[in-house]
Amino acid sequence: MLSWAKAHGRTELPWQSNKTPYRVWVSEIMLQQTQVTSVLAHYERFLDRFPTLESLAGSTEDEVLHAWIGLGYYRRAIRLREAAQQVLGRFNGEVPQSVDELCSLPGIGRSTAGGIVSSAFGIPAPILDANVKRVLARFHGVNGPEDTRISESKLWSLAEQHTPKTHAAAYTQAIMDFGARHCSRSQPRCTECDLSTRCVAHRLNAVNLYPAPSVPKKRVDVLKRQLVVLDCDGACLLEQQDDSGTYARLWEPLSLSTGTEPVRLLESLGLPTDSATIADCPPMEPYEISNQRVTEEVVVAKFREDSTRLCTPPNTRWYIDDELTPLGMSIRTRKRLDLAKSQVTFS
Ligand code: ADE
Repeated sequence: MLSWAKAHGRTELPWQSNKTPYRVWVSEIMLQQTQVTSVLAHYERFLDRFPTLESLAGSTEDEVLHAWIGLGYYRRAIRLREAAQQVLGRFNGEVPQSVDELCSLPGIGRSTAGGIVSSAFGIPAPILDANVKRVLARFHGVNGPEDTRISESKLWSLAEQHTPKTHAAAYTQAIMDFGARHCSRSQPRCTECDLSTRCVAHRLNAVNLYPAPSVPKKRVDVLKRQLVVLDCDGACLLEQQDDSGTYARLWEPLSLSTGTEPVRLLESLGLPTDSATIADCPPMEPYEISNQRVTEEVVVAKFREDSTRLCTPPNTRWYIDDELTPLGMSIRTRKRLDLAKSQVTFS
């Protein structure tokens, strides 16, 4: 692994230079569920905004969610901030060096903890992300066809056996890069692989069967209706979501349940319906998010000239722009607001 990485591994990643435990930790959280290329587009900007653990811990949740825009899986940002506060409170501001202590922090599981301690402190600890799982599954011939299934705990012990006592940081990065670049899911480079003679899946001529793909969840169709309320300056009324779901704690236009007339929703919030013009947004292509196929229906209520900001019902805020009102919002929501503002013509 180490000699492969010397020739082919990644060496230019921003979290590999100016290494501090904080920078490594942020990178490992971003890299959960997100490709390296997407993380690269956001990593330095986030660190410019929150250069230290103290600055992150001292920020508001909305500031962190706002800086996370574009990375998705926003709960990671909420937990990262909470964990930074706990590191200040419980660990004197020092990122812990043990896997168990790291795992006691919000948002850090065993693999992320292994990534942090090995990369930041050179402490040998296994990791088991999707790339490592694939390399181990093929090399050992496990988790392919039914009779080769092993438990997650056995996979962890294989990961542990391979982790060397020295060069932990280099090895951890090497096996992840090897999985991503060399032993990839669809185009593994077996003909030029030094491990091929020892690789069980290769010996069986069945590399593509390892690891078996996970069973896709049944797809469900979801209709999402929203009411975009705009005041005469183009400020938009947003509502903060609760702690559950994909958009937990993020700001979204008002939710309009099936069968509810937009005017009734405005009334129930105490907004003056007589000065609003209401129109439907043109239909949008449905999109997929995890196992859901979401069709959105967006209605816009635009208030007349004399009516700025009107009133602010509980749990809502008027969003003006990212500078004046930095709020946590998904990219999709931001695009939807822009579309709603530009596309709707009022008679
Ligand atoms: N996934 C998780 N940690 C990573 C890292 N340090 N480099 C590349 N991919 C990763």
